[in-house]
Amino acid sequence: MSKVVRADVVFGLAWGDEAKGKIVQQLISDKSYNWVCRYSGGSNAGHTIYKDGKKYHTNLIPGGVLSGIKSFIGPECYVNLEDLDKEMEYLSKEGFNINLVKVSPFVHIITPEHKEEDRKKYIGSQGSTGKGIAPCARDKYARLGKRLMDIENFENLKYFNKDTNIMTEELSGNILCEGSQGMWLDINYGNYPYVTSSSILPYNACSLGFHPSVIKNIYGAAKIYDTRVGEDPLFSDELLKDETLSKIAEVGQEFGTTTGRQRKVNWLDISSLKKAINITGTNKIIISKVDILEKVGVYKLSDGTKFSTIYEMKEYIKTYIYSNCPLIETVLFSDSPIDF
Ligand code: IMP
Ligand code: MG
Repeated sequence: MSKVVRADVVFGLAWGDEAKGKIVQQLISDKSYNWVCRYSGGSNAGHTIYKDGKKYHTNLIPGGVLSGIKSFIGPECYVNLEDLDKEMEYLSKEGFNINLVKVSPFVHIITPEHKEEDRKKYIGSQGSTGKGIAPCARDKYARLGKRLMDIENFENLKYFNKDTNIMTEELSGNILCEGSQGMWLDINYGNYPYVTSSSILPYNACSLGFHPSVIKNIYGAAKIYDTRVGEDPLFSDELLKDETLSKIAEVGQEFGTTTGRQRKVNWLDISSLKKAINITGTNKIIISKVDILEKVGVYKLSDGTKFSTIYEMKEYIKTYIYSNCPLIETVLFSDSPIDF
């Protein structure tokens, strides 16, 4: 029986890059969590984290380690050992205790061949991040993959020892689960095949090793406008030519943290947001980057609805969500992570 008492989940309600890292830092600041866990994705994700006025960047390692909290990379994640080593080294140099990082022995290993295949086949056709995720996932499901525990003497690998590898039943207490990417990049619910190879919805947090009944809060992260990095017919190239949207991209510094690519910007699709909330059971929503629209001074939704002030827009969104999403208890608005 799992010793997890309570699990809260933070995940993205859109196409990723919804400031989940910032929400995680806020939630763990009172130290009420024993663990922070990643339940999906790999180093395709990018987290920008601000800690004591300094900016940090991680791809795979959960943000808990920056606050001295044990951080677990769960069995549904995909891990390239060199990438993990680099990230560990970086965090260690910055003064963080990397012994807090624990990895599931069941994670599938991304090989250099997976990366090469990804770069050749999927960067061009689907705008993948080239981190080897899709070929590794294919091998996993074809039962050809290699798990961490299948590597000979894996306990002796740099940064790994018996202590730093845990079976999921060792998780205990209160845990915060971090989703990667976002709802519409999900392998099941996204605009397939323009998706990632993970199940990123809150139900998949249970893959960490606890049962659904311990989940208490589902925090959905969103932005007050939509962005998309990578190929997707839902985001046409025309968007890049729109003057106001380009201005939002510029002011909001909408560049991918992992790849540096410019994100396409569109006005908020509130009906998709409603669907994402209702499918996932989100009970708290945080809508970020309100300050960016204020700086640009244009307030619109993708269905053409216009507002004359940010106040009017926020009130409309709040009322819409409260009246269309029965499980929602809290709608919060937030600005950009400090000076990005
Ligand atoms: P992959 O996950 O690298 O295979 O990429 C598949 C699709 O998901 C591409 O369109 C990527 O741009 C997108 N994607 C993957 N990870 C992220 C992320 O963390 N943020 C935003 N988009 C992502
Ligand atoms: Mg990101």
